[in-house]
Amino acid sequence: MHPVLLTIFFSLSVSEVIRSSQSCPPSSGIYLRHNGACYTNGSYFYDNDIKGASNSTQCVLPDTALNGGEWVTSSGSSVNCSTNPLRCNEVSSPNANISLYINGGITSSDDGWYKCCLPTSCSGPNTNIIFANIFRWAQIETITVDLPSDKTVLPQTYTLHAIKIGHDDHSSFLRAVKWYYESGSDSTELCSVTHQQTYSCSIGNGMSLNKGNGRWDYTLTVKWNGEIITDGVLSQSNNNGDHVFRFYLYFGHLGVIANRVTRNRNIFVTGK
Ligand SMILES: *[C@@H]1O[C@H](CO)[C@@H](O)[C@H](O)[C@H]1NC(C)=O
Ligand SMILES: *[C@@H]1O[C@H](CO)[C@@H](O)[C@H](O)[C@H]1NC(C)=O
Ligand SMILES: *[C@@H]1O[C@H](CO)[C@@H](O)[C@H](O)[C@H]1NC(C)=O
Ligand SMILES: *[C@@H]1O[C@H](CO)[C@@H](O)[C@H](O)[C@H]1NC(C)=O
Repeated sequence: MHPVLLTIFFSLSVSEVIRSSQSCPPSSGIYLRHNGACYTNGSYFYDNDIKGASNSTQCVLPDTALNGGEWVTSSGSSVNCSTNPLRCNEVSSPNANISLYINGGITSSDDGWYKCCLPTSCSGPNTNIIFANIFRWAQIETITVDLPSDKTVLPQTYTLHAIKIGHDDHSSFLRAVKWYYESGSDSTELCSVTHQQTYSCSIGNGMSLNKGNGRWDYTLTVKWNGEIITDGVLSQSNNNGDHVFRFYLYFGHLGVIANRVTRNRNIFVTGK
């Protein structure tokens, strides 16, 4: 084995971040709040969880007065607080605060990224901006990798995790879950859910773990031996350790195709 391989280590870049609930910041700065917890920029909110004013997602900028602040949809239009299905309550004091909630039901065109701007509108040059994703059915909340603690020993084994959130009823509404390996324009399927919700991978020993409340952890374990990936279909020589994996989720109604969602997210595992 070439000596250089013995000093190999991984570094990882993940392009999308990561909802985590945290305590609300005592310091200044825009934040999101839902059911008493604070949520970071880019957090995901299941539509059923923000139905009714009492279940709203609040966007708050401490110690400022509202001055044209707004929620804006992913297509760029301002949310009209007094029309369904996405409504809001605006509060100016003691904090600029616009709470967004659903009255009735949202449609597929309402699914997506919303941005809250405070204290002024989103076109204000010095406004504060925070993003929230409002989704129907299901979403991929995070996609992460557990790297081995010793990055100098080959082969390396690492485990990918995709956390699915949203609707609980998999037997009725889970249409597909898959992990793919991406290489150029080729996608190689590595894991999938088959009948009776059985999750299996053609490499490694992926598992699906029900964490409750619609949270599922779908894992995939990959073995890398420096120059080659040693796992089954992924075996290839002269691999520099850079791997792209994609998690795919397809969820929703059996009968009505329009009433389903497709989610995809990539993770880049970079060997250096
Ligand atoms: C708020 O959410 C709770 C829990 O999901 C639900 O029981 C309640 O009906 C919701 N409130 C409104 C006004 O929809
Ligand atoms: C918001 O909707 C209400 C009710 O339909 C309407 O009267 C109002 O003009 C709308 N506001 C804006 C800014 O479009
Ligand atoms: C934001 O306004 C809502 C009412 O729309 C209120 O219930 C909530 O406590 C306010 N949150 C903060 C942090 O001021
Ligand atoms: C939230 O993220 C967006 C883009 O990723 C950024 O422009 C914005 O400043 C962030 N807001 C905060 C409060 O970090």
